[in-house]
Amino acid sequence: MSTRNIVLVGFMGTGKSTIGKKLADQLGWNFQDSDAFVEQQQQTSIADMFREQGEAFFRKLESQALENLLAGEGQVVATGGGAVLAEANRTCMLSNGLVVALTATAEIIIQRVQSDQSRPLLQGNLEERVHTLMEQRRHAYDFAHLTIDTSALSTDEIAAKIIEHAG
Ligand code: S3P
Repeated sequence: MSTRNIVLVGFMGTGKSTIGKKLADQLGWNFQDSDAFVEQQQQTSIADMFREQGEAFFRKLESQALENLLAGEGQVVATGGGAVLAEANRTCMLSNGLVVALTATAEIIIQRVQSDQSRPLLQGNLEERVHTLMEQRRHAYDFAHLTIDTSALSTDEIAAKIIEHAG
């Protein structure tokens, strides 16, 4: 396979971590999650970081995490939904791997994120927050090499599509 790393981007709840783990298993690659990386490094949750140090603090660490993780190879990296907002992050992703954007409808996203109420950007009225943020980020994931609508596909089918493209 010629692809050095695979980077999964997409809105919260599009399945980046679930697909990423499956993909890494199938390829025999390492799975990395930029959110988990930052949480481990700081020994605290993203929700607490947002609350105590602010979003900008988290974004800085997120960029550093991506740089660190993508310096390696043979890795599937799941990124946080907002990691694509910084141009430097997009450049780093594009130059170090195959960037795959996962999409889903707002309804499916709302269903998926309902079980985890910890996301700081989804506090308040969940439906309203998801719709507003999705609208704001309408084109944020367009830079990816490949976009896959996950709404009607199984995780196996999604992983197979990505592997086919990476090969
Ligand atoms: C965020 C998405 C989250 C996490 C943080 C901010 C965002 O990751 O990085 O809460 O800005 O969309 P997931 O996409 O894994 O939920």
